[in-house]
This record gives sequence, structure tokens and C-alpha cells, in this order.
Amino acid sequence: MPQQIDHDATDEQLYADLPDPVILKPADLLSDYQPNILAPLVRCSKLPFRHLTSLYETHITHTPMILAEEFSRAQVARISDFSTSLDERGVFWMEKKKSRKGKEAEHEREGHSYSHPEDDRPRQLQTQDGSDHFDDTGRLPRRLPPTPVRPSANHDLVRGCMIAQFASPNPTSLADAAELISPHVDGLDLNCGCPQRWAYNEGIGCALLRKPELVRDMVRCVKDRMGWEWPVSIKIRVDPELKLTEQLIKTALQANISHLTIHGRTRHQSSADPVNLDGIKFAVETVNGQVPCSGNGDIWELNDAVIMRETTGVSGVMGARGLLANPALFAGYKTTPSHCVSQFISLSSSYGLIHPLFHRHLAYMLESQFSRAEKIWFNSLGGPVGAIDWLESRGLGWRKQSERGTIWDARRGRAVVQAI
Ligand SMILES: Cc1cc2nc3c(=O)[nH]c(=O)nc-3n(C[C@H](O)[C@H](O)[C@H](O)COP(=O)(O)O)c2cc1C
Repeated sequence: MPQQIDHDATDEQLYADLPDPVILKPADLLSDYQPNILAPLVRCSKLPFRHLTSLYETHITHTPMILAEEFSRAQVARISDFSTSLDERGVFWMEKKKSRKGKEAEHEREGHSYSHPEDDRPRQLQTQDGSDHFDDTGRLPRRLPPTPVRPSANHDLVRGCMIAQFASPNPTSLADAAELISPHVDGLDLNCGCPQRWAYNEGIGCALLRKPELVRDMVRCVKDRMGWEWPVSIKIRVDPELKLTEQLIKTALQANISHLTIHGRTRHQSSADPVNLDGIKFAVETVNGQVPCSGNGDIWELNDAVIMRETTGVSGVMGARGLLANPALFAGYKTTPSHCVSQFISLSSSYGLIHPLFHRHLAYMLESQFSRAEKIWFNSLGGPVGAIDWLESRGLGWRKQSERGTIWDARRGRAVVQAI
């Protein structure tokens, strides 16, 4: 029988029977489920935007690329490059992959598949420790899933993950940065894809695509410091010579990377070029099931994620410009809904976000809904108050209580769920 949600009930009443969310490593999330992912985005994937996307079915988020050397050396860099909150990760009902056998998943969750046989150090990442993730009463998770009722017997309640992305040409700096940031994140990703000239000249980003041994040494150095099981992934672009992509992947697998993200464009391609799904498929086939993979490039709507998974065999799908344009993309919205704008304004003012970034995010989110004249007007607004007032005059109504509140979900308004 479909069960109607009582919209007058308190959260305590609605969520009284909620099980504890499972806390998984990113690779386990990718192995057991099909997560949606927010890409690392310089300047843009900061705390307010990460939290925002996690309200809309984005299960894994990334910080912007951080320079490991600066981060490990200077307190001022750490303060400006990274902030987090206990609430930023979402809590989701996630459907188990059909092909996964329960026992196999359980085995991996306990850490067996990631344990180096000679590594007897205590685990640094507790997989089932919910202590930080419940409110003061200890009863409700800080973040609640969209519906209080399990959508089907095949769904688990899972907490999302947040990964720090670093750029480095130097193993020791990367390990130092990993050690400093590790209490606050669920893993580290090494950027092997930034195509900008300055980055290439510094030996980071794309410069690593043809230095597989250095990538391997950097991953190993982090693992030596943090423990063999500590999650370290890499994000790569495909190489015009696919043999070199194969070599990079095989070498990185020797260092026990936990998962791999493949952006299906080469270093020389612009983002206007269509993503090469065959290149991503080639990389997935090279990995041959040794670690889970995510695909990245041209995810503009939910159906693009379906096509990416079906065509390439990736488990995770990563959105970048599509999520900037519509942070509710993975929840199935075609354009940014007004409640998403409201949430962004609310999160930005609670966490704090400098005006140029606040303004830029709103411009990205609303671009498709603005006329040319409106764009010009909006871009001329100098401060947050002017921007918010103007949005309100256009009926975005961000001050409406029903659209704010500390705990909110993207789907409650249209929730009719199947009881099991
Ligand atoms: C504003 C912006 C900032 C980006 N910053 C990063 C970054 O910090 N690290 C990274 O690996 N890629 C970065 N990228 C690349 C994206 O993560 C992604 O690989 C690329 O945009 C392709 O995905 P898309 O076609 O869905 O946009 C950035 C892209 C944009 C548009």
C-alpha cells in the first residue's frame, strides 16, 4: 500500500523508526551503490555549495583542488582553502546494485579487500561509528533522508562522503596534507587532470598524466603515512594515445588506489568538445573491476547519467558545469528549482561566502531562466542584499519559512512512498 506522509507530524515523530545510517568509504559506496558525485571545482565546490548539492541526491562531494604544498606549510592557506561542517554530508536512501551479492559487499565493508597483508595498524576510518553524526539527543541523525520510509527492501540508509582534492608534484607534501586534513574528510583525490598552463609548468594536474611512476609514488607515500586502507583516488583525463592511459591506470593500481575518476576529454580538448564515452569505457575496461570507477563529462541532466553508466560501465557519475547550472540535477529537476535558490542563499549566509562567489553561483544557477536584460541587471548588483531583494522581487520567495529550516529535503513536498 502506498503510504502517505503526514506533513503535520514533527521530525521526531516522522523519523522515529529510522535505522542508523551506514557510514562507508567512498570506494564502498561506489562498489555497493551507484552514487552521484559533485566534481572538484576551483572556487566553486566550497562548503555552502557542497552542502547544497547534498540536499539533492548528490552522494559524494569534492573540495576544490587544493595545492598540497601550500596547505601543509601555511595555516593561512588552510584557513582560506578548507572549511567543513558536521552537517554537510547528506543522508540518503540508496538502492543496492542488483548484481551485488550481500555477502561479498559485507566482506568488503569490513575492510578485507583493502587490507594490505602486512598492515596491522589500527583502522583510522571507522566505518560504522555514528558518534559524530547524531543530534544531541542521540536519536536522529543530524541530516535526515528525504523520506522517513524505506523506499524498498533493496534500499539502505547511507551517509554521503566528502573527499578533499589535492594537487601536488611531491609525495611528502601530499602525505603532509593528507595527514592534516584526514580527520575531516573521507578520503583524498589526486588531481591528474588540470589542463591550465601554470599547473602544467608546476608539474601538477595534467603534467602527471604521463608520469605514472610519480603518481604511484605519491599515492604510496600517502598510504605509508595514513595506512594502507586509507582512501586515495585519482582523477584523470583520457590521453589521445590510449596506451598511455592504460599505462597510467595499471601503474596507479599497483599503488592500491581506492577508486578512479575518468574525465572523458584529453588535455588539449576544450570543455565545448563532446565527452568521449568510448575513452571512459576503455579506462573502465583497463581497470577490469579491480577498483570502482566514476565517469565525468557533459552531465547536464539525469538522463545523461543513465547513458554514462550504461555506455561506459562506471558506477559513479560526476557532474561539474551541469551541477553549477542546476544543483538539483541529480534529484531529477530540469532547471534550478526556486527552493534550491532559497537553500543556497540560506546556506551561504549561515556558513559565509564572499560576495563574488555568491553572485557567481546565483548567475550560474539562474542563467537559463534570465532574459538578456535581466542578466545585465543582475550582474550590475554590487552586494548580497541587492541580489537577494531583486530575486525576491522576481518571486523566488527565499524568506518563506516552508522553504528554509535547518533540516529540509528536496522531495518531501511530493513524497508518496511505497511501504515495504
Ligand atoms: C569552474 C570549474 C572549476 C574546476 N575545478 C576543478 C578542480 O579543482 N579539480 C578538477 O579536478 N577539475 C576541475 N574542473 C573540471 C571539472 O571537475 C570537470 O572535470 C570538467 O568540468 C568536466 O565536467 P563537465 O563536462 O560536467 O563540466 C573544474 C571545472 C570548472 C568548470
